[in-house]
Parts: sequence; structure tokens; C-alpha cells
Amino acid sequence: MIYFDNAATTFPKPAAVVREVNRAITMYGANPGRSGHSLSMKASSIIYECRSAIAGLFNAENVENIVFTLNCTQAINTVLKGRLKSGDHVVISNLEHNSVTRPLKALEERGVSFTQAAVYENDNDATVNSFRNAINAHTKLIACTHASNVWGTKLPIERLAALAHEYGLEIMVDAAQSAGVVPLDVKESGIDYLCMPGHKGLYGPTGTGVMIARDPDKLSPLIQGGTGSSSISFEHPKFMPDKFEAGTVNVIGIAGLLRGVEFVKAKGIKRIFAHEMRLIKRLYEALSSNPRAELYTAYPNEKYCVPLLSFNIKGINSEEAAERLNKGFGIAVRAGLHCAPSAHIAKGTQDIGAIRVCPSVFNTDADIQRLINAVNKIR
Ligand code: ALA
Repeated sequence: MIYFDNAATTFPKPAAVVREVNRAITMYGANPGRSGHSLSMKASSIIYECRSAIAGLFNAENVENIVFTLNCTQAINTVLKGRLKSGDHVVISNLEHNSVTRPLKALEERGVSFTQAAVYENDNDATVNSFRNAINAHTKLIACTHASNVWGTKLPIERLAALAHEYGLEIMVDAAQSAGVVPLDVKESGIDYLCMPGHKGLYGPTGTGVMIARDPDKLSPLIQGGTGSSSISFEHPKFMPDKFEAGTVNVIGIAGLLRGVEFVKAKGIKRIFAHEMRLIKRLYEALSSNPRAELYTAYPNEKYCVPLLSFNIKGINSEEAAERLNKGFGIAVRAGLHCAPSAHIAKGTQDIGAIRVCPSVFNTDADIQRLINAVNKIR
């Protein structure tokens, strides 16, 4: 199988991740922070190591402010539901995943409202202006993706963070498609809340996600429960990271994530990006000269997009094309709407969806060539 569904989750995982997951399951996967025995201590220490590695990768000031979640969606829910109150307004982009739009839709019942600002491809000035125009007197937060999971379009998050702060607002960034692929610095970028999956560009197992808050005091936790700390009290701890980590964390997943983060650091984010971008450009070039291929985005530009490309084969529904790629050629892609209906509406593909190709560090030129040949053969 040639796997190009890395925007959904990276596969395969690096050997060091597999080894660490196995070690955690077989050698030390006890409950961290609950007991004083050596297995519990070992589990605690691997989790701390992972927190530190993530703080280092994203230049977060405080290791305790790295919160482990189940996935990026849970991280986003933690911010939106923990921060927003009745009367608050949020500006989002028109490229958001349902992980942002659905919690906001649910929050409408609690009196929260939101406006979608259009993103302009290859024109950051126009995008920033569109966000500016969507801000009103009740706006509390800008919540946006760093890069579209459908079109790869990158948003100018540093400029959007500056815009948010100019108006006394905060910014939450969904780094589902950029963490581990695009260098991200929480201090320099001015991001207030950074949410990411552990299982995509950070090469950890599924069931891992991260939320980094500049000022976690401003957020209420989604859930309360056992933390192994202050156990005498009925009140949930307010200190970090226990405030947001009620219940046993995913020790095995986080152990694997540690090795994933180390893998990304060792490879170098810029090198990973350059490798994947080269593959995507090669695909784009081949599809541009295929009259049956329908492209929706401009030629991939490092400044404006992440390495991910969605297209269609004229006359064939994207789901059917993906099935043919899978069954006939052993190639895995994701078709349909990618849980991001607005992004499809923006390009008019909401009825047919699109075939999405997202390489990882493990894909090769030969993989891309096999895909190009397969697309040429589909009738
Ligand atoms: N958000 C993931 C994707 O885009 C699952 O496929």
C-alpha cells in the first residue's frame, strides 16, 4: 500500500515510536502520578520528558502548560468551551474543520456567536483585512486553522495574532496540518492557544493531542476528576497541568509521541517540509498537464501552503476515484469533504468532494510516480 492519507494520520510511524509503545505496554505502562512505585515513577518521567520535548519544539515558556488531550479536536473544545461565555463573538476562517465549527455551533445555545472570514489564496493582506472586517464590539477570540486540511492554504497566523492583540482579543490556532511540518514558535508568533494532534506531523500514536495555553488561568477545564494530586479535596486542582488532565492520561500513546517528537527534531522540520513540498510540486506539475485532472489551487508556494494537494478526475466522483486508487492500485488517499464543508463550499466542490494527497517524510518520488501513473489510467 502506498499511503498518502497523512493529513488524517501519519502512517507508518517511525520505528522508535513503535519500539517505545511496545516498551510502555510491556515494561512500564503503569498509572503515572498515582503511586510511588517504580513503574508509576517511570511512567511519570516519560510523560514529563514528552512535555519537555514538546515545550522545546514549540518554544513554550512553561513545561506545565503543555496539556495532553486525546486529539486536536479535544484540545480545541477545551479552549472554545473553556474560554467563551454568553455574548462572546468569535472570528473564524471559511476554511475551518468541523473541530472548530461544530463546537462553536453548539456554543450558540449558550449565547456565543461567530463569523466566518474569507481566506484569500496567496494574498495575506486581503486575508488579514477580511478578519479585521469581521471583528465587532463583542469579539473575544480569533479561532483559525494554521493550514487548510483540504487545500493546504496557510493562514498568516503571526499577522492574525498581531491583529487579535491590536483589538485586545486572543487567538487560538488549530495546527492539525502544520505541527511538525511548519516551524511554530508560540512565543514569537503571539499565539495564545495552540492546539494540535500528536498523531499527524508529530508521528505519535492516535489518541494523542496537545493544547498549549499562554495563560491557562483564563480557561475553565472541560472535565473534572482524579489527578493523583490534592486528593483530599472535592475541588478539582487549579494548577497545571492537572487542571486539564483529569483521569489517567494515555501513557502508552504519550510515550510513543515522545519518540515521534524526537524523530521530527532529528529530521528537522524545515527538511521535512522541503521533502514533502518537492513531492507535492511534482504531483501538481504532472496533474497540470493531464487534461482530465481538475486542480483548484495555484502552484504550491512555500510561503502560502503546506504540502497537501486536493484535486479531482473529471467526470468521476472523488469517493469513487479514491476507491479505484485503493482497490486497483493500492494507493490510500482521502476523498469526500474531509470534515471541512466550508472549505469545499469556498471552491464549489461541496457536491463532489475532492481527492486529497498528503505525503509524509516516508513517501518517495517513486510513490508519487505510481500515483501519477494510476491517475492517468483511471477512466
Ligand atoms: N482532520 C483529519 C483529516 O483532515 C482527520 O483527514
